[in-house]
Amino acid sequence: MKAMQISAVTHGEAVRLTEVPIPTVKSGWVLVKVKGFGMNHSEQILRYEEIKAPYIQKPVIPGIECVGEIADPSDSGWRQGQKVIALMGGMGRSFDGSYAEYALLPIHHVFPVETQLDWASLAAVPETFFTAWGSLFECLQLKKEDILLIRGATCALGYAAIQIGKALGCKVIATTHREAKLPLIAAADEQVLDDGELQGKVQGVTKALDLVGPRNLKDTLLAVEKGGIVCDTGILGGVYALNNFDPIKDIPNGVYLTGFFSNYPTQEIVDALFAFLNEKRIVPEYGAMFTLNTIREACMAQDKGVDGKIVVVVE
Ligand SMILES: NC(=O)c1ccc[n+]([C@@H]2O[C@H](COP(=O)([O-])OP(=O)(O)OC[C@H]3O[C@@H](n4cnc5c(N)ncnc54)[C@H](OP(=O)(O)O)[C@@H]3O)[C@@H](O)[C@H]2O)c1
Repeated sequence: MKAMQISAVTHGEAVRLTEVPIPTVKSGWVLVKVKGFGMNHSEQILRYEEIKAPYIQKPVIPGIECVGEIADPSDSGWRQGQKVIALMGGMGRSFDGSYAEYALLPIHHVFPVETQLDWASLAAVPETFFTAWGSLFECLQLKKEDILLIRGATCALGYAAIQIGKALGCKVIATTHREAKLPLIAAADEQVLDDGELQGKVQGVTKALDLVGPRNLKDTLLAVEKGGIVCDTGILGGVYALNNFDPIKDIPNGVYLTGFFSNYPTQEIVDALFAFLNEKRIVPEYGAMFTLNTIREACMAQDKGVDGKIVVVVE
């Protein structure tokens, strides 16, 4: 099969497709015919830096998510040809991922789905919409009466969260740190230019999804109403942890702080997500589409920066 493999630091221009054997099925694992996959910052970090880490088995096929059909159900009880999505659990790091024609994946990270979306739109779903869904519903307990703030909305996750929040009926306030990108968040009810201080610039916020993360988190906590919840899901600000965080003083009285980590997908959450997408007729958006044969161009586009999700269709 065709696959992209890396064993050392690899920038987009150096990416090549190679021929490798189709993996052999084993108990507890299913063989998926990959029909498409979304690309993530996570794989760029792998290509640029993390590939040097001893825990990455080399060569490795990157890719932390995919959509496709069961090619060999092994002992899963699923049928050949069943439509599935898969994400996380060590994909593309501890074992080979999705940048290939086939992927051998552990049953507990593969989920059958009911959907009419085409492969490109479906490929925009697994990691991005699962994370948006988990952050908004599992963590923020989002209701249609809420005023939802999305901080750092000009990213794949931000665009997905705007789509979900609007479909639910919420008022959505989205921020960007670049004036030129304000039109990209026009689907939100309000667009705010974020200079690092939102307190006083947004009103009535009951739920906040923070994708900029620890760099501005204390300020996000000040921007929500009493009784409001802040979910820290992103690290776009480049700061990964909070130092000198004083919960007594930094979390305002009656404000709640939570965080979401996408490493634990379940069939129950995937079913709820697809029921919502189907009911609200949401077609996930993507910023650019490539094929597996043009994976080099896809990685180069990722290195340059694309507004929205990059999806790759495997023909
Ligand atoms: N918690 C989890 O389990 C989980 C799961 C998935 C993703 N994430 C995180 O969620 C965030 C979004 O992920 P994604 O895959 O949607 O990202 P993405 O589509 O790759 O978006 C990256 C873009 O975000 C933009 N951005 C917006 N606000 C920014 C800011 N304040 N500082 C720097 N860049 C900013 C940057 O473009 P401009 O600077 O031009 O605007 C950058 O090109 C990332 O931090 C990712 O690590 C977390």
